[in-house]
Amino acid sequence: MLFPDYRARRMRQSETFRRMVRETVLSPDDFILPLFVISGKGVKNPISSMPGHFQLSIDNLVKTAKEAWDAGVPGVILFGIPEKKDPLATSAYAKNGIVQRAVKELKNRIPDLAVITDVCLCEYTDHGHCGVVEKGIIDNDASLDLIARTALSHAQAGADMVAPSDMMDGRVAEIRDMLDENGLTHVPIMAYSAKYCSAFYGPFRQAAQSAPQFGDRRTYQMDPANAQEAIREVTMDVEEGADIIMVKPALPYLDVICRVRQEIDLPIAAYNVSGEFSMIRAAAQMGWIDGDKVMMETLISIKRAGADIILTYFATDAAKALNR
Ligand code: PBG
Repeated sequence: MLFPDYRARRMRQSETFRRMVRETVLSPDDFILPLFVISGKGVKNPISSMPGHFQLSIDNLVKTAKEAWDAGVPGVILFGIPEKKDPLATSAYAKNGIVQRAVKELKNRIPDLAVITDVCLCEYTDHGHCGVVEKGIIDNDASLDLIARTALSHAQAGADMVAPSDMMDGRVAEIRDMLDENGLTHVPIMAYSAKYCSAFYGPFRQAAQSAPQFGDRRTYQMDPANAQEAIREVTMDVEEGADIIMVKPALPYLDVICRVRQEIDLPIAAYNVSGEFSMIRAAAQMGWIDGDKVMMETLISIKRAGADIILTYFATDAAKALNR
């Protein structure tokens, strides 16, 4: 069909027609809100690089999660800022750790909210790496047990789902075994499968106080140049028992989301990370872009690429905009 028989503009002439042929529709159901939890009472420390986001004590965390839930957001993912850090990240799997306490309180107060926990060691190690360090090297196999113990302690506290973000090889299987051996066969794993070594995590590391104290994460997170490798990473996690697989960051890796969608039939999550959020907020504050419109265009592009679930700091704002 060619012009003048076909005119692409015919179906664009009114909002009603545009609605009828719209291929991708966003819903609050698509979003998961990341939250940062810290000990104390009444704490709401602004994260300067992420306007509108805070390190929250549990009381304020409940309020913020309730606001998201009331806007229709089905889930939150928690990141903990512990009181003490050490080489073996003991606060990560402490029974009374900050995330474990936050999970209990959230499940008490908002029972139907899906409380997901990020499972990683970097916020809890004094060196800031996502695994155990031996002679300056991040030791994969020595890290697995600690990561699995962290996931177990989150699930025992009542987490609805655990989400390992460390990128150690074999951690999904290790977590699955640990959960199953402890009678937690019903707890799903959302694996950060294709997680790239990205400078877009900058604002998050300030928020979670988790920047590596030496070197970088290139020996475990993926090289931004690789897409084929993402398929191998994702396939590995599927075989190890992941229930949802994730691509992260989202925007610079829309091609990876799209490829993974073609290869894998599990639900796909995409993480619209801190740097992606902060760039939009900053440009909007400068008056250079329309922040709300760019937010919606960004989220729809991630869904159009093939994501079923979007982890995003825009979750509550976008859900409210969709409800209007
Ligand atoms: C922990 C973790 C990170 C993010 C999620 N989990 C940081 C990192 O890998 O350095 C980044 C999230 C964001 O930037 O919004 N490993």
